[in-house]
Amino acid sequence: MSTQQFDVVVIGGGPGGYIAAIRAAQLGFNTACIDEWKNDKGGPAPGGTCTNVGCIPSKALLQSSEHYEHLNHHFAEHGITADNVQIDVAKMLARKDTVVKQNNDGILYLFKKNKVSFFHGRGAFVGAKDGLYEISVNGTPTLAAKHVVVATGSNARALPGTPFDEDKVLSNDGALRIGAAPKKLGVIGAGVIGLEMGSVWRRLGAEVTVLEGMPTFLAAVDEGVAKEAAKVFKKQGLDIQLGVKIGEIKTSKTGVTVAYADAKGEAKTLAVDKLIVSIGRVPNTIGLNVEAVGLKLDERGAIVVDADCKTNLPNVWAVGDVVRGPMLAHKAEEEGVAVAERIAGQHGHVDFDIIPWVIYTSPEIAWVGKTEQQLKAEGRAYKAGQFPFMANGRARALGDTTGFVKMLADAKTDEILGVHIIGPFASELVAECVVAMAFKASSEDIARICHAHPSLSESTKEAALAVDKRTLNF
Ligand code: FAD
Ligand code: NAI
Repeated sequence: MSTQQFDVVVIGGGPGGYIAAIRAAQLGFNTACIDEWKNDKGGPAPGGTCTNVGCIPSKALLQSSEHYEHLNHHFAEHGITADNVQIDVAKMLARKDTVVKQNNDGILYLFKKNKVSFFHGRGAFVGAKDGLYEISVNGTPTLAAKHVVVATGSNARALPGTPFDEDKVLSNDGALRIGAAPKKLGVIGAGVIGLEMGSVWRRLGAEVTVLEGMPTFLAAVDEGVAKEAAKVFKKQGLDIQLGVKIGEIKTSKTGVTVAYADAKGEAKTLAVDKLIVSIGRVPNTIGLNVEAVGLKLDERGAIVVDADCKTNLPNVWAVGDVVRGPMLAHKAEEEGVAVAERIAGQHGHVDFDIIPWVIYTSPEIAWVGKTEQQLKAEGRAYKAGQFPFMANGRARALGDTTGFVKMLADAKTDEILGVHIIGPFASELVAECVVAMAFKASSEDIARICHAHPSLSESTKEAALAVDKRTLNF
């Protein structure tokens, strides 16, 4: 096969890679994207972890399981009752697969629309000659490129000595494909995946125990929010044990037993039907053949980049989960756009200080900027304002009054430094706060902007008013 030459070749078609490829093509570059993900028929399934076994399928299952929980527990107060409520897990999973496929197909359509050449297979460096990088697809040297963007993502981290079998010991992949709600589900790691997937299967009837190594629950989250979340999740029936030390894990035909020491050091055993291990993810450069060109990795296996996503090699860039920073789809996308623009000589920019985080549990948890404990540690003088959803008319009408909005602002300048939300549609409410922070708004700015009534967003305005101790509805 003859070598095809491109201006930009992107390796990896997840949110970092496919967005970088589209933006590069929009900027007039002859662009190719290589992605190896296969659907169940062996065909291409671009979109990466996010589309195939991450953001999208997890949110599909969270939605289905929330409908089921509402019908079982919350609709009666609206006067809606149903007998014999059933969950057809196979149908729920099939719907999730359809949602995933719509996203895969959408990306293939976008590649066509933007004239990005798509190659299905594994991309690897072969070498570099005359200012061009040679890239193979499935072992065959096929492409040459002036610029290469590596966006090869991450993989689930396994516990040492306990590989994922995706039947009893599950990564995020298996956790999204459990064929029937297990009677007992164990989760190791009370992070984002543990809480989201634990919530899905608890709502569908599993007895869920979460074993967390850290003594603090959601240590990266604002303390007030984490405390409220712990209270609510406990009430929902999630048994979250902190400060544990995991010992031997044994699997049998029927289930899994986990030996562990609890926070007091007492030896305990947890016997479950399925075990999800969600203890973080590792950057993925498997099969990329970085040695061929001398691409530098750090001790965690992440590709070393500077603030502009430049690697140690000229014209080789890396974005998303395979580099430093939070492992979030929108962070990967922003880096992808910025890199394409930098290749074009523009000034692509990612503001790492205002990347929003969302945990899609019920209630949702969302935040942007600094937590109260971070500001205290920095010795920064700040003012805090908090408004409970209990005092918001729309939340009462929704029947979802758990949680609050907390706004933190600089004591002198009043610039917003962080916003922390636990409650209904926190994922949507946080967007206003990100915009405000991007424009360096003060809490007074938000307090003086008209918010629609009745809407949950009035709680953000009221939290801003609370910073100046002048709430109107609380
Ligand atoms: P990936 O999405 O991992 O994509 C990398 C792609 O590169 C893959 O398709 C892979 O097959 C391909 N690839 C790798 N090596 C090669 C090679 N050599 N040749 C060709 N192709 C290759 N983030 C959020 O922001 N919001 C969420 O709600 C959210 N939910 C999540 C839920 C779960 C269960 C998980 C596991 C993750 C979730 N994330 C979420 C994180 C998000 O999925 C990642 O941050 C995001 O996918 C990273 O994008 P990426 O492009 O860097 O890598
Ligand atoms: P995580 O980093 O969110 O949580 C891992 C948890 O496991 C931590 O609380 C950690 O203390 C604990 N842990 C680590 N080792 C342990 C051990 N040996 N024993 C017991 N506990 C241990 O990682 P998670 O949940 O695997 O998710 C990976 C990443 O995927 C997230 O960090 C996030 O970037 C992304 N993600 C984002 C989502 C979102 O944006 N809504 C949803 C799901 C994942």
